[in-house]
Amino acid sequence: MVPRKAVIPSKQLLQHTIILGATGSGKTFTCSRIVERAGEYSRIVVDWHGEYSDLIDGVEINPYDYPINPFIRDLPETIEVLIDAIGLTHPQAYILEKILTQSSGSIDSIMARLEVFSDESAWMRESRLSLIRKLSPLVREKYRGLFNGVDNDLLGLIDKVRKPLIVNVSVIRDPFIRKLYTVLLLKNIFMHGINEGFKRKVLVVIEEAQNLLGRDNPVGVISRMLAEIRKFGIGLILVSQSPSSLLEDAMKNTNTKIIHTLKSSLDLEIINKILYLPPSIQKIIPYMDVGEAILQSKTYKKPVVIRVI
Ligand SMILES: Nc1ncnc2c1ncn2[C@@H]1O[C@H](COP(=O)(O)OP(=O)(O)OP(=O)(O)O)[C@@H](O)[C@H]1O
Ligand SMILES: [Mg+2]
Repeated sequence: MVPRKAVIPSKQLLQHTIILGATGSGKTFTCSRIVERAGEYSRIVVDWHGEYSDLIDGVEINPYDYPINPFIRDLPETIEVLIDAIGLTHPQAYILEKILTQSSGSIDSIMARLEVFSDESAWMRESRLSLIRKLSPLVREKYRGLFNGVDNDLLGLIDKVRKPLIVNVSVIRDPFIRKLYTVLLLKNIFMHGINEGFKRKVLVVIEEAQNLLGRDNPVGVISRMLAEIRKFGIGLILVSQSPSSLLEDAMKNTNTKIIHTLKSSLDLEIINKILYLPPSIQKIIPYMDVGEAILQSKTYKKPVVIRVI
């Protein structure tokens, strides 16, 4: 079969895109080509591995210059994020909520209030102490700068800057903290899109999407908003090397699917199940070269073989 040149109409990006493939199959390269060419969108890449500045002409953002204070807006969503991203239990969330209703503020002041919070019972004391332990990485010297600021003006930059914004979260060494920063950033972008709106349509790239939309541990705030945000002019590009560990909804909620080569039988099985690929296409997926892919989109009646350039 002769590979075809990929054409994805720009407005289709609002209905979300997913790029899948084994490691080294060309996912990041493909994504960078789409981002580069989607100039009518405000573009923001959450750059998990710090690769995009070499691939596209963008503006690199250091997360330490754009702290996110989790505790000054969308408090119910913030608590939900903390439950999903750092594993707060419900009693811990309850105590945090109690403290936050007294007054919100910086992570430092919340920690201080937690220290002196008067426990009404033994379970409360236990939950409070473990809550302090769970929140303590956020105030560690190395990371406090990420969460302790007034708040970031990154959302403002999305409207102002025409070039793609590349948020280099790879500078956050601890993957747990990196994930938390990423989730808070995405939550802020989605909530802003829904409540206030951005000036232009926004395209958001999420690499290693299985970290946020894992089959077993999806981050609720993100997975729930997948279907909703497209109505508010936010399109996502999800990138993942492991379709079998992704939430099925993440795949079903994406209109454009780009499948690079996959080798594991589990991944192939999931793809065949969700995409209804004809046997002739199924057969070649494990043997495609780097940069070759299957494109399934509204533009084509059937999935087509493409080479990304
Ligand atoms: N369409 C293409 N044309 C030319 N070179 C490509 C193409 N796609 C990928 N490459 C090259 O192949 C290598 C691997 O590509 P890439 O980093 O995009 O893979 P990946 O699927 O994102 O890998 P990982 O799972 O490790 O993130 C890179 O050196 C990249 O430049
Ligand atoms: Mg990659």
